[in-house]
Amino acid sequence: MIRNIRHSLSMLLSLAALALVPASPAVQAAETATRMELPAPNKTGGMPLMQALSARHSTKTNYSGAALSAQQLSDLLWATWGVNREDGRRTAPTAMNRQDVRVYVALENGVWQYDAGHALIKVLDGDWRGQMGGGSLTLLYAIPQDNEWGGAHVGSLYQNAALYCASAGLGNFVHVSGLHALDGKLPLPEGWKVYIIQTVGLLK
Ligand SMILES: Cc1cc2nc3c(=O)[nH]c(=O)nc-3n(C[C@H](O)[C@H](O)[C@H](O)COP(=O)(O)O)c2cc1C
Repeated sequence: MIRNIRHSLSMLLSLAALALVPASPAVQAAETATRMELPAPNKTGGMPLMQALSARHSTKTNYSGAALSAQQLSDLLWATWGVNREDGRRTAPTAMNRQDVRVYVALENGVWQYDAGHALIKVLDGDWRGQMGGGSLTLLYAIPQDNEWGGAHVGSLYQNAALYCASAGLGNFVHVSGLHALDGKLPLPEGWKVYIIQTVGLLK
């Protein structure tokens, strides 16, 4: 009798414990919170601004698919959404300096969130670039759905990226094809969405 009660109790406890364990993460969710340090961005040199503006254009074909160097990746991300002042403000403006934009980068070895302290945090395993335009990488711009200025913010960021690409001789284009490839897979805050994406890459 006592053994039966003990058995029932232990079953109940196991079931209760199971109920407390969070649901298993999405299949492709990164298994560990891998952090990749990037080299400090090189903030000198590059093409003079007026030449970069003259060279800015969309490139939709002819990507080699080869990886950018770590320095190019760091420079691209810094130009796009890096911190450029000691008070933490950035290379692109946001309404009331809320900085409510997240940049993710899909590389050959997963999808990473940009940390403006010159690092990437892996959020998803797998190579998703083919579903989002190919290239060396895809930038994903996420914003709160209810931010009326979100589109304006993202436009500033993708133009920063495009000017860096012009300066560095990389191809890029902004697009919506594959925009929803990672729906439900990125660890976005409640009410956020990927607004648009940008393919970037070395050319053949
Ligand atoms: C918000 C936005 C959305 C775009 N969406 C797409 C797209 O879905 N597919 C595509 O091939 N190009 C897309 N483009 C790229 C435009 O076709 C391109 O910018 C336009 O033809 C002008 O060419 P340019 O960037 O070389 O000046 C988009 C550009 C912007 C700014």
